[in-house]
Amino acid sequence: MFGPEGPGLRELAVQALSSVEHGYDLLAPKFDHTPFRTPDEVLRSTARALAPLGPFEDGLDLCCGTGAGAAALTGLCRRSVTGVDFSAGMLDTARHRVRPADGPEVAWVRGDARALPFTAAFDLVVSFGAFGHFLPRELPGLFAQVHSVLRPGGRFAFPVLAPPPPSRAGFWMLLGFDAVMRVRNALWRPPFVMYYRAFRLGDVLRELHRAGFGVDLQALPEFGRRGDGSPRARLVVARRPQPAAAGSMNS
Ligand SMILES: C[S@@+](CC[C@H](N)C(=O)[O-])C[C@H]1O[C@@H](n2cnc3c(N)ncnc32)[C@H](O)[C@@H]1O
Repeated sequence: MFGPEGPGLRELAVQALSSVEHGYDLLAPKFDHTPFRTPDEVLRSTARALAPLGPFEDGLDLCCGTGAGAAALTGLCRRSVTGVDFSAGMLDTARHRVRPADGPEVAWVRGDARALPFTAAFDLVVSFGAFGHFLPRELPGLFAQVHSVLRPGGRFAFPVLAPPPPSRAGFWMLLGFDAVMRVRNALWRPPFVMYYRAFRLGDVLRELHRAGFGVDLQALPEFGRRGDGSPRARLVVARRPQPAAAGSMNS
């Protein structure tokens, strides 16, 4: 279905009837040959926008999959890069694919993004292509987890694409995909949560603020603008504030 090296329709169907974790375990060896892997142009553009905010020491790729984002982090972080994902299969593939000859130390950790197994050990957290796996009601917990693993002053960054308008075929494809997933999840256990249209920028910004982040939005210029002048792609950069200096309340 995605060319000779990608998964076939039958394989995709079996994966879609599994849990998210097991579905990705099955898909892992062929994942990089699907459109679900974040394209290099998105990774490059994100890295370009983040570089002036560095230097960074320790980076985390949240829901790293086969390590597309972690590989991009190796050019931004000086000391360490960690990929975290709950699919052992995806981590195995990442371990074999991302092996920089030099640069920061790279580690792969199996863990759930909703209960991260880290202390405040990072100054940069990125995530690519995974937010559709979280229900809107899970965002507060997810963002609280990211906040807790960032050092004060650390940043949480991720690209968001503007949704296609109803005049474009893409709008109807995403609507159709989400509708099929909702029917599938009403009829079949375990659920496979993946909804393209549930992750809305307005809700995301509100929940980031609620989790204690200060938030900036940057246009990613490589992707151009829509007819109404708004950017096609933006980078959300959320910052965990530094604690107020002692005595600053009185000064
Ligand atoms: C579409 S893939 C994206 C992979 C990679 N970030 C990329 O852009 O190519 C989504 C990844 O999120 C992971 N994932 C989904 N829910 C997760 C969770 N609750 N905790 C950890 N990983 C999760 C899946 O295992 C999968 O590897």
